[in-house]
Amino acid sequence: MDTSLSQASILIVDDDSRSLFALQELLQSATQKVVLANSGEEALQCVLKEDFAAILLDARMPGVDGFETARLIRERERSRHTPIIFLTGAAEDVHSVFRGYEAGAVDYIVKPLVPEILKSKLSVFVELYNKNAVLIREIAERTRAEEQLRKSEENLRALAAHLQSVREEEWTRIAREIHDELGQSLTGLKMDLTWVANRLPVDQRVLAEKTKSMSGLIDNTIQSVRKIASRLRPEVLDQLGLTAAIGWHAGDFRKRTGIRCKLSLPSDTPMLDRERATAAFRIFQELLTNVARHAGATRIDVAVQAESGALVLTVEDNGKGIAESAIYDPKSLGLLGMRERVLPFGGAIEIAGAQGKGTKVRVSIPLGLK
Ligand SMILES: Nc1ncnc2c1ncn2[C@@H]1O[C@H](COP(=O)(O)OP(=O)(O)OP(=O)(O)O)[C@@H](O)[C@H]1O
Ligand SMILES: [Mg+2]
Repeated sequence: MDTSLSQASILIVDDDSRSLFALQELLQSATQKVVLANSGEEALQCVLKEDFAAILLDARMPGVDGFETARLIRERERSRHTPIIFLTGAAEDVHSVFRGYEAGAVDYIVKPLVPEILKSKLSVFVELYNKNAVLIREIAERTRAEEQLRKSEENLRALAAHLQSVREEEWTRIAREIHDELGQSLTGLKMDLTWVANRLPVDQRVLAEKTKSMSGLIDNTIQSVRKIASRLRPEVLDQLGLTAAIGWHAGDFRKRTGIRCKLSLPSDTPMLDRERATAAFRIFQELLTNVARHAGATRIDVAVQAESGALVLTVEDNGKGIAESAIYDPKSLGLLGMRERVLPFGGAIEIAGAQGKGTKVRVSIPLGLK
């Protein structure tokens, strides 16, 4: 339906051209457009091309009569709901009035016409038509706005996922460079230092002490470099897989925070691609960070299992319990980030907190296997 139409049209159908023009005279005004048809066939063509606020239809016409025309108008999608008012002769009986209603008329007017009655009846339909047009326009605008919103949300989501993967690649590259280049230089430095130390005259005690402490310093630096590289992107994740990386990170976490981690990991690692393994591992890291920062827990239970085609990771702590309001707070960006991470795989995150008892988070990531 053309909703930009500002002027409502009335279709008048009558085989008697004198009566057609009389009606046209009567109805034509600044706000109303009148279309004339002098047969049922012509009327049917008109309703295919245009929407009408109402149709005035003469019941008695040669060829396709008013009743048949009304039935056909009702059958067409475009004119299904257009109000039809029958024009019947005074001599006609109640029977034809009923036939009119049966064929889809909403009203009837007996000829000869009383202009005021006709005008007031039509004005109701014109008003209805105009209100309907406004409503349709509003609905179309709202649908368009919703569609735009959905699209921009989709774009943002794709952008976030893209940035996430770019960041991950960058971390992997930096981790490798730190590990390889700095690590190698430091190892070379240490070897040179050992070479020097071995050639020191035996009476050079002070220098020997110095080389020893330098060697210790280099060892510590090598350790730090390894740690920094692993925290950026644990090699174990790429080489041994998710469960090994979870085990490694839990051990590291315990050393740093003193919070015990009880692990229940499957003996056979579920087959995971790099994207899923990375997502699960980063979520795990974020969950442990949250426990350390917010929970005040002394113990964490971690379980990984494959469950009906999905990887399921559960992390449960015995801390103060996450507040319901924090779970759904749009400002909980850490939690939001976790949800976004599993979304591309059709995964889900369930978070439940019991006050004073702890928090349980269940992450499931479909494995995408056929
Ligand atoms: N294990 C937990 N125990 C208790 N409260 C928690 C736990 N995990 C999260 N919360 C609560 O949920 C809130 C939201 O967590 P979220 O990770 O989204 O943000 P954050 O950790 O405060 O900040 P960041 O954006 O750095 O992650 C936290 O501020 C905290 O109040
Ligand atoms: Mg957090």
